[in-house]
Amino acid sequence: MKIRKLSGTFGAEVSEIDLREPLSEGDLKALKKAFVDHQVLIFHKQQIEPQHQLAFSRHFGPVQKLYAEEHRIADCPEVVVLTNEMNDGKPVGVVAAGDYWHSDLSPNKTPGLATFLYARKLPSQGGDTEFADMHAVYESLPDTTKERIASLRGLHAVSKLKNPRVEVTRPGGAEYYKKQNSIPDQSHPMVRTHPVTGRKSLYVSLRFTIGIENLDDAEAQPLLDELFEHQEKSDFIYRHKWQIDDLVMWDNRSVNHRASGGYDMGDIRRIHRTSTLGDVPF
Ligand SMILES: [Fe+2]
Repeated sequence: MKIRKLSGTFGAEVSEIDLREPLSEGDLKALKKAFVDHQVLIFHKQQIEPQHQLAFSRHFGPVQKLYAEEHRIADCPEVVVLTNEMNDGKPVGVVAAGDYWHSDLSPNKTPGLATFLYARKLPSQGGDTEFADMHAVYESLPDTTKERIASLRGLHAVSKLKNPRVEVTRPGGAEYYKKQNSIPDQSHPMVRTHPVTGRKSLYVSLRFTIGIENLDDAEAQPLLDELFEHQEKSDFIYRHKWQIDDLVMWDNRSVNHRASGGYDMGDIRRIHRTSTLGDVPF
C-alpha cells in the first residue's frame, strides 16, 4: 500500500490496495493514521460491492443507517444510494444532497465521523465534490478572531427553513423541512479539538450553523459571515473530480464539504454512501 499526499494542505491518494480484500493489521494501522493526518483519502479503481464498502467502513466506527428505507441498498441497508436516477417516475435514491458547505450530521449531539462515497455512475460533466481543510481554516484566522470564538458554541439546525443563508430547491423540500422545524438546535464548540491528534479546527458550516449560543444575532451573524467567507478561500479547498470506481473517505471532525452540482437530471450520477457515528465534539 502506498500513500501519496496531495499538493495542498490536506488530502492523500492511497494506491496498491484492493478494498475487496481483508486489511492486514499493518495496513489498517497505517490507514487510520493517514485518515487523521490527511483528513481526506482517495482510492482509485476500486471494484467493490456494497458489502465490501460496509466491511471497510466498519473499521472506522459503527456504521449508521441513514435516510429512508427506499433509498438504501435492500440487502445492505447501511449503504445509501445518492442518485438522480428515476424508476417509473420515482427517485431511486436521495436526489440532491449536500449542496451547501457542511460537516455531516452536525445538528446531532453525536455527529458523523467518517463518510465514504463510492462512484458507480458519473455524469458527463459536473458532480465534483469540494472539501475544506478546517484545521488550516482555523489556524489561519487572525489571533483576535481565535480569541473571540475560543469559548463560543455554534447552534446547528437541521431544517433548511431555519437558515436564511440557504435555499430549498428540490420539489417537496419545503414540506420535508417543515417537519424538521420542531427539532431543537444542537450547540457545539466553534473551535473543535480533534480527539486523536489534538489539533484544533473551526467547527461551523454555512448549511447547519444558524447562530451562536448566548450571543445576539446583531453580533453573531456578522461573525458567522466572516467565518464562512474565510472558509471558502481557495487555499483551504480540494475539489475532487470523480472517476468511476473512486472511493473517497473523509474525517467530518476536521473537514467541511459540499456537492458542487452542475449536471442535468437526465445525466445519471450514482454514488454509494456509508457513514460512521462519531462522538460528542469538544
Ligand atoms: Fe455531506
